[in-house]
Amino acid sequence: MQILPLSESNLKEACSVYNASVDECDNLSLDWFRFHTLDDPDFCPETTLLAVEDGRAASFAHGVRREHANGVSGFIKSFATLPEYRGRRYAKALFQVIESHLAGCGVSAVKMGCPAPRYITPGIDPRLYTPAVDFLMGRGFKYTRMAYNMDAELAGRNFCTKDAEDALKSKGIIIYRMEPEEKDLLAEFITAEGWGKNWLLEATYAMQSNPPGLFVAKKDGKIAGFAACGALRPGFFGPMGTAASMRGLGVGQILFKKCLSHMQTMGRDTCHISAVGPLRFYHKSVGAKVSRIFWEMEKPLI
Ligand SMILES: CC(C)(COP(=O)(O)OP(=O)(O)OC[C@H]1O[C@@H](n2cnc3c(N)ncnc32)[C@H](O)[C@@H]1OP(=O)(O)O)[C@@H](O)C(=O)NCCC(=O)NCCS
Repeated sequence: MQILPLSESNLKEACSVYNASVDECDNLSLDWFRFHTLDDPDFCPETTLLAVEDGRAASFAHGVRREHANGVSGFIKSFATLPEYRGRRYAKALFQVIESHLAGCGVSAVKMGCPAPRYITPGIDPRLYTPAVDFLMGRGFKYTRMAYNMDAELAGRNFCTKDAEDALKSKGIIIYRMEPEEKDLLAEFITAEGWGKNWLLEATYAMQSNPPGLFVAKKDGKIAGFAACGALRPGFFGPMGTAASMRGLGVGQILFKKCLSHMQTMGRDTCHISAVGPLRFYHKSVGAKVSRIFWEMEKPLI
């Protein structure tokens, strides 16, 4: 077996290993696979690896080291071994290299969790990937907490917000698709509300689709709320937030529905709300339901 770093030259093969190993609901196009791996701002060739046997990629694992306000964390973002190569210790070999590299970089624990700002899932789905959970437990990972996604049905529904928007206009609040030149205003808003740089980055990713999947509420020339969709892949919603002083006025509901309507026009049947968050708000607004649960798991390294 050879262990090789992920690069542009083996990206397509790595993407095929990933897609053939995970459930269809977690499949990624080559562009989105690149977005989540090579283009990750913390991409590191020493922790993004392929195990190759007889010239064929058999297993893939992707670790990152993320710096944040409270220090540094290590994450396994994804790992996958082709079904026909399972049980032959390829994933184990990749994890050994990744964990020892992260430990050498001063990372005290590695998580299978939510490596924002670029993540595919906020942890591991224990129902779809029970053997993978078993593998992680065997390597010393322990369950720490649960995360979940919610789904909102889009097909055939009407998310018109005209009346609610008219009512807010009389209070001086307008809601619209954000213009690229308003990025600094959004940065100011997200920082002032204390949501941190990951939400700003995710909102920026949502700006990159055409048309942008980012809507804002504005009052007195300042941003008072935002909602993003398509930031982490098509069909996914989040993040969103309303200024603490403006909550309960219907701003969040309008912003959310604007995104749902945008996703409808992009041909989506279902909106996946990632790593929720205020379950009651999403359920009350459009009847969204919990669709998937994830375990966050952690292993001390030092
Ligand atoms: C969730 C959030 C965006 C809602 O924004 P908002 O502008 O206050 O929402 P709205 O005023 O449109 O609320 C619509 C309805 O949901 C209810 N609601 C809003 N937030 C709620 C919450 N956190 N829990 C339960 N119900 C909530 C409102 O009471 C309202 O109900 P009503 O129609 O019966 O009056 C806002 O609370 C927020 O910014 N929270 C912090 C950031 C966050 O958690 N973002 C989501 C990340 S997944």
